[in-house]
Amino acid sequence: MTETLRGKVLQASGFHSPKRGAIEAFCDALISIGDDGEIRDFSLPGSAGHDALLDAARRDDRLVSAPRGSILLPGFVDLHIHAPQYAQLGSALDVPLEVWLQKYTFPIEARYADAAFARRAYAVLVDDLLAAGTTTAMYYGTIHDEANRLLADLCIAKGQRALIGKVAMDDPDQCPDYYRDADAAAAVAGTESLIDYIRTHPDNRDRRVLPVVTPRFIPSCTDGLLEDLGALARERDCHIQTHCSESDWEHGYAFTRFGASDTESLDRFGLLRRGAVLGHCNFLSAADMERIRVREAAVAHCPLSNAYFSGAVFPLRAALEKGLHVGLGTDMSAGFAPSIFDSARSAITASRMLESGTDPDLAQDTRSRHAGVRIDFRDAFHLATAGGGAALDLPIGVFRPGFRFDAMLIDPQAPAGSIRLWPEIDDGEQILQKILFTASRANIERVWVDGLARSGTATAAVGLG
Ligand code: GUN
Ligand code: FE
Repeated sequence: MTETLRGKVLQASGFHSPKRGAIEAFCDALISIGDDGEIRDFSLPGSAGHDALLDAARRDDRLVSAPRGSILLPGFVDLHIHAPQYAQLGSALDVPLEVWLQKYTFPIEARYADAAFARRAYAVLVDDLLAAGTTTAMYYGTIHDEANRLLADLCIAKGQRALIGKVAMDDPDQCPDYYRDADAAAAVAGTESLIDYIRTHPDNRDRRVLPVVTPRFIPSCTDGLLEDLGALARERDCHIQTHCSESDWEHGYAFTRFGASDTESLDRFGLLRRGAVLGHCNFLSAADMERIRVREAAVAHCPLSNAYFSGAVFPLRAALEKGLHVGLGTDMSAGFAPSIFDSARSAITASRMLESGTDPDLAQDTRSRHAGVRIDFRDAFHLATAGGGAALDLPIGVFRPGFRFDAMLIDPQAPAGSIRLWPEIDDGEQILQKILFTASRANIERVWVDGLARSGTATAAVGLG
């Protein structure tokens, strides 16, 4: 069984989407992967040097051929996921956001004070996400230093690319006594300590795991903490993540407290910049969108979660056409499916409903004010891969020299899987469309991060190595 593709040349067929709206299909491409997991060369049959590369790889015993019929895709990027909430996956979906936090979510997150519980829950999560094709995850942790370090240890040990934040939340008005940073200074100290832990981790020299400055959202943070975290992100040159204009309540909260939108308020605190990822952004004004674009921050679109907690659909197409960075998030467990396949499907479905409108009592021509806003599987696939990579400003999501080899191999014929292709019917992009809509875990044969096999069931019997 081939555990690594480092130093090898992979011959495979598949798809990627370097540009939104366009899918590039490749057949028997040769992908040369360096000893460090970076893609050195991507070569199509018939292109200059292809035959020489194939001959040399064969001669040096460096050629690895993917099984015939298998499909290579870039690994998926989950831009917004709450690691501790895995313990309540598939439950607690019956109340509005502000009630959900107090009634279910803060209590479950508080349990991660117990390091043994954290280790158990996080180990399952990281394994499950890798098996689902999520090669990069941007995680919210909890307020607990030890549990956050454990999550980092597990991502490093299991080889998932991860961006991890200590959740900062110090405002006694919104956060319960049993689950709150003692004060702004404690939240900043915890954040700095996780930054140092991750950046100096002896097994993280290649920086596959990165720290994230993580004010939970404006309502849970005092002004002083927001200010300090903005300064810290700038000084330590860190990614940032937070929630922005997620629900009517949250969107209204910033106006009441600051007389300005979430977006504008975050900007005032220095929290909008390249590498900042804002979850949701459902209620943005045109000025908010423009501000996010100018700051080169990104939106994590979490369509499934929005159906339960937002009461509105993010105007995805408008954001894309304005040139904002956008990728997909599961927002697990507000989103009950910890799979970017599901997020992609939900993004397509939500855009269709925004376009059509949803009130059957209205005539068709007045049911929606949003013409032409649907996205299709091409856009969704791009957002799940290259779009997520660009949002994070990381070289991932595309099979191109200089990018990391983060990928999954789909077996469309896995008997326990859920893809059914018909050779006389399916070809070209249709195959990708069917994969995107119908794949399940059993179809994900193998997952690599940085050229190292991280999950999957492939054995010598199916020809990989
Ligand atoms: N806003 C603040 N915290 C959270 C959270 O954990 N999930 C979601 N969906 N929204 C939030
Ligand atoms: Fe969230």
